Amino acid sequence: MEILVTGGCGYIGSHTAVSLLEAGYDVIIVDNLCNSKMDVIDSIKKITGKDVKFYKGNVCDYALINKIFSHHKIAAVLHFAGLKAVGESVSKPLLYYRNNIDSTLNLLEVMTKYNCKNIVFSSSATVYGSPQTLPIKEDAPLTTTNPYGSTKLYIEGILKDVYTADNDWNITILRYFNPLGAHKSGLIGENPNGIPNNLMPYIIKVATGELPILNIFGNDYDTPDGTGVRDYIHITDLANGHIKALEEVLKGSGLKYYNLGTGKGYSVLELVKTFEQVNNVKVPYQIVDRRPGDIAACYADPSSVYQCLGWKAELNLEDMCRDAYNYVIKTK
Ligand code: NAD
Ligand code: WQD
Repeated sequence: MEILVTGGCGYIGSHTAVSLLEAGYDVIIVDNLCNSKMDVIDSIKKITGKDVKFYKGNVCDYALINKIFSHHKIAAVLHFAGLKAVGESVSKPLLYYRNNIDSTLNLLEVMTKYNCKNIVFSSSATVYGSPQTLPIKEDAPLTTTNPYGSTKLYIEGILKDVYTADNDWNITILRYFNPLGAHKSGLIGENPNGIPNNLMPYIIKVATGELPILNIFGNDYDTPDGTGVRDYIHITDLANGHIKALEEVLKGSGLKYYNLGTGKGYSVLELVKTFEQVNNVKVPYQIVDRRPGDIAACYADPSSVYQCLGWKAELNLEDMCRDAYNYVIKTK
């Protein structure tokens, strides 16, 4: 059965492509490589021993998406393609709205034309804004504080409207918490260029000596040690969550929303200490001012996804720290 993975060369898409191939699906990837490299395709093949079809191009390109659907009998789409840097979205909002929303509209139009009405969409815990109650359930109030988050919320709205207009659609919206780690092979993972925005890539660059010191953004939050608390989830668990979501979509699930998180929050200091212990390295840090827009704590109530899909995270913070570092060391 052929599954189209948009953004399949990226961090989450590549790990999910591996899980899909291991589960016996045929995978077609479309990616314009604006935030990834084509080597990933070879790594996916090497890990799984299976072939992957790859189209290099933009999901906003109607002719390309139409061509893919005309050449393949696509049963469902996993839609990862999108720009995701919060800070960049503030300085380049039009780029974010154009890329993330246009690509989704285009995809949905072509899917409608080919009567493929099964989609799993990559949303984010960012749609919960600054949560009023913890842990966060799927029916918590939604709001966003930056253009990136707004693209996710608007796309969720578009998908809901599409479903309302035509109940033949099966649409699952997955709201990811903070994905970390890498495939255990060390062949795929996350290693952004330049100075990272996110915590784990920054920790790794300090551990490898590429950056001198980690700046911890505030230790005066209302959390056990004062540093920010997040629900970190291993990328392999996250990828496997997509297989469960896909299975349900293919059975005919209607419109569903699930949190993909572990349900447990860890502070910045806990993550740094675990990383140091597991990898036997030092990560020097200093406390600096809070980062504008950051929230104190954010973690999921994952009980709905467990009840409905039987999915829960299996890997722990040690696994995330070990695998994230292993990937970077191995590919250095
Ligand atoms: P990523 O940047 O590693 O992967 C996204 C991929 O999409 C990249 O390979 C990029 O080249 C491609 N892409 C972007 N726009 C495209 C377009 N118009 N046409 C074709 N390809 C395009 O990001 P990721 O971390 O793998 O995230 C995947 C999805 O999950 C994104 O939609 C992101 O917003 C969402 N998400 C990510 C996180 C996170 O922390 N990583 C958290 C919540 C949600
Ligand atoms: C985690 C914690 C920081 C860097 C972001 C997006 C969100 C989602 C996931 C896509 C916070 C602290 C960080 C550093 C630090 N992406 N920190 N020093 O902000 O929870 O979420 O990625 O949807 O939309 O906003 O993740 O990794 O940036 O930060 O102290 O150099 O680490 O303050 O408490 P965040 P993060």
